[in-house]
Amino acid sequence: MSGDLGLFITQLLKKPHQVVALAPSSRALSAEMAATLDPAGGPVIELGAGTGRITQAILDRGIPAEMVHSIEMNPVFCERLRADFPGLNVYQMSAGDVGELPVEGAQAVVSGLPLLSMPYDLQNAILSGTFKQVGATGSYIQFTYGPKPPVKAEIRAAMGLTWTTSRKIWGNLPPARVYRFAYPNA
Ligand SMILES: C[S@@+](CC[C@H](N)C(=O)[O-])C[C@H]1O[C@@H](n2cnc3c(N)ncnc32)[C@H](O)[C@@H]1O
Repeated sequence: MSGDLGLFITQLLKKPHQVVALAPSSRALSAEMAATLDPAGGPVIELGAGTGRITQAILDRGIPAEMVHSIEMNPVFCERLRADFPGLNVYQMSAGDVGELPVEGAQAVVSGLPLLSMPYDLQNAILSGTFKQVGATGSYIQFTYGPKPPVKAEIRAAMGLTWTTSRKIWGNLPPARVYRFAYPNA
């Protein structure tokens, strides 16, 4: 991950509407994103992997690279992810197609996407595809800088999702919270 800040800023300037963040996620935020993953709980799907800060935290949590499936639409970031994380499954595609990924029994979808800035139809496709992958017992994990849940209220209500919220992670630019969405009694 050497030099990932420079790569991140370059891509932010080229594609501001896709990157939508001032800097890569900090180590503290990335660790919180991965904190509830079970090393023996099955595959993990990651959305919007970028330069791989959250990817690294998922691996540090004890999930083998071969069990991690990272979706990223930017080809430059995909190239970096393949170089930095041998064994990682990298897919250059839109997160809206996460439901089509050939993965069996995923325990969670961990998202670094700028979900709040995405239109309803794309958010809906991401959340529907996620729960097609993780079923009734899995979760969708998403950080946000804002004060409200990052999944639109209509989608939360239509899918019947519940959620928990982490403490505020001050050691991130800007400070953020992690939301974990799931079906009731998951
Ligand atoms: C805020 S950056 C987060 C990068 C990294 N996960 C982190 O936390 O440092 C958002 C990432 O999502 C990617 N992205 C945005 N829209 C996407 C989409 N529809 N499908 C897949 N990736 C997308 C961007 O290319 C960018 O790498």
